[in-house]
Formats: sequence, C-alpha cells, structure tokens
Amino acid sequence: MATSQQTENSLQDYLDRGLRGMWYPVLASWEVNANPVGITRLEQQIVLWRDAEGQIKALEDRCPHRGARLSMGWNLGDRIACWYHGVEVDGSGEVKDVPAVDRCPLVGQKCLKSYPAKEAHGAVFLYFGVLPDEEPSELTFPTELADGETHSNFLCTASWNCNYQYAIENVMDPMHGSYLHSSSHSMAEGQRQADMVLEPTDSGFIFKKSDQSGVNFDWVEFGNTGTFWLRLSIPYKARFGPGGHFWIVGMVVPEDKDHCRVFFWRVRKVKDWQRDLWRFMYRNRLEQLHWDVLEQDRIVLENMAPNAREHEYLYQHDVGLSRLRRMMQKQGQKHLSQLQEHDAAVKEKM
Ligand code: FES
Ligand SMILES: [Fe+2]
Repeated sequence: MATSQQTENSLQDYLDRGLRGMWYPVLASWEVNANPVGITRLEQQIVLWRDAEGQIKALEDRCPHRGARLSMGWNLGDRIACWYHGVEVDGSGEVKDVPAVDRCPLVGQKCLKSYPAKEAHGAVFLYFGVLPDEEPSELTFPTELADGETHSNFLCTASWNCNYQYAIENVMDPMHGSYLHSSSHSMAEGQRQADMVLEPTDSGFIFKKSDQSGVNFDWVEFGNTGTFWLRLSIPYKARFGPGGHFWIVGMVVPEDKDHCRVFFWRVRKVKDWQRDLWRFMYRNRLEQLHWDVLEQDRIVLENMAPNAREHEYLYQHDVGLSRLRRMMQKQGQKHLSQLQEHDAAVKEKM
C-alpha cells in the first residue's frame, strides 16, 4: 500500500513530466517540413514530417527494427525510411517495407505509437493521451486566435531551461509586470500594490487586480479548451499602432522535467489597412521590445533556486497559481488512477 508521501511524490513526478489528456503545441508550423525532425515533448522522443500532401505526421522516434532514430531517415512521400537499414514506416506507425529481406513478417504490422496532429494558428499541435489509443479531445481556441477576420497575430516561440509549470505560473502572476518588467515599454505605469481576486469562467478562471484595470498587466485568464491557454491584455499607447489593447495568448509544452517550449501569440484587433500597418510596425519596431521583456522572464525562471516550489511562502498574489496547481493536481490524480486501472486490466488478461 502506497503511503500518502509516495502518492504525493508520484503525482508531482507525473505533473513535472507533463499533464496528459490534452493537446499541446509542439513546434511552429514553419519548423516542420518534408525532412523528418526529431523533438522531445513530455519526455517522449517524437519524429514529425510532412507527407506528399503537406499533412503533418508524428510517430515515436524509434525504428521498429533496432531503434535507430527515424528522424535521421528519409521522407518517401507516403512513408519514411530508416537511415540504418532502410525499414519503411507510414504515418500510422505501420511497417510498409523491409527492403533488405524478402517477405519479412514485420511488413503490415503497426509497431509504433502515432500521435494525432493538427495545425492551427501557425503551430503544430499533438494530442498526448492518458491511456494508449485514447480518442483526442476537441480543440478550440480563444477568440483572439479563432477570429482571424478581425484579429491579427504573430507567434513567437522559444525553449526555456525550466520546468513548464514555472512558465505557466509566471503568466498566472500579473503582479510581476510592475516589478520585473517595470522598465519595459508597456509595463511602467500604475500601482505597485494590489488586491487580487479570482473570477470563475466557463473554461477556467480570471485572476485580476480588484482596484486597477487597463493600466498595466492587470489581469490574466486561464482556460482549458482541449489545451491549456493563458490570455491577457496590456493597454498600449497610440504611438504603438492601431487596434486598442495588445493581447497575448500563451501556451507551454514540457520537453522534459527541466525544459519547456513557450508559445506566445501577440495579437491586436485590426483589419484591412490597419492590419497591414500594425504588421509592418510590429516587425520593424515592436518585436525586439517584446523579446526583451520575454528575456527578463526567461532569466528569472531559468535561475530559480533549486526546488524553489518546495520552499515557498505564498501570499495573496499567488492565489491564481495556487488555484491552477490544485486543479492540475486533481486532474493528475485522476489520470494516475486511470493508469492504475488500465495496468491492472492488462495484467489480468495476461
Ligand atoms: S534500425 Fe532502422 S532499419 Fe535497422
Ligand atoms: Fe513576464
């Protein structure tokens, strides 16, 4: 019988590697071409490529023959071939040919796990199930991404050397804007003290300053619509171009326990000539300013004290991230029970 400490450890271990049962952005669309590419996400080695129709395929990155990386292989249009001895596998993980052997029994067998893949808003999303062969959940996006008619966005993505939970929690913490980013182009204004409140929404919750809005990074929303997303807006001075508030939609995918990939869509509500003007301005004047802000986050998070989360004294401004932690723990606990039941059922069949 597992003690509660053991249960807690295995839960945290599971969460550190990446909560499952949802879609994650894994790469920007422009990073996946015909040539197979190998990545690590949720501690899984995965190979991605585009088939002859441009559709994205994703498999575990392990040749069924002797385990060479398929990401080192070749794209043959409707399948990829291993560099080592030429075994050919299609996007569902089925072996299509073993050219070195006549009538090899491996042909026709599904030997590899494949990942459901989708492309949306300039990113490639893969579904990571709790159980093998689980049906993927529906995937929807907040309006600022979904409504491409009236909104325009730029996706920026970067790898950070920290656990993904730190990167999520950083966005769940609006108050750091007035300190860490106080010298930035967009977060110099407003009170440096606040009372924070939580407000539930259909897909998650909003965490906001009760006494200041529309001045700085004053609120953030967490949502779960088949993927975890964070949304916030920051008011912008007129000289930074048309379109009212500047919106950010953020997502984070774990690579392994100590590394993650962040995805931030920078959005403004603009159309027609305003869209063109804003896109021009963004590329020429604003993008570097945004990278400078993001660097401040990265530097703090990559240099957190060892096991920082185990030695915290949280206060009222951390209610948002505490709520998210509890929610993730609850889901994680559910997944671990599902896995246990699944393993027990498999054992019984043997
Ligand atoms: S390891 Fe891939 S073909 Fe042998
Ligand atoms: Fe920040």
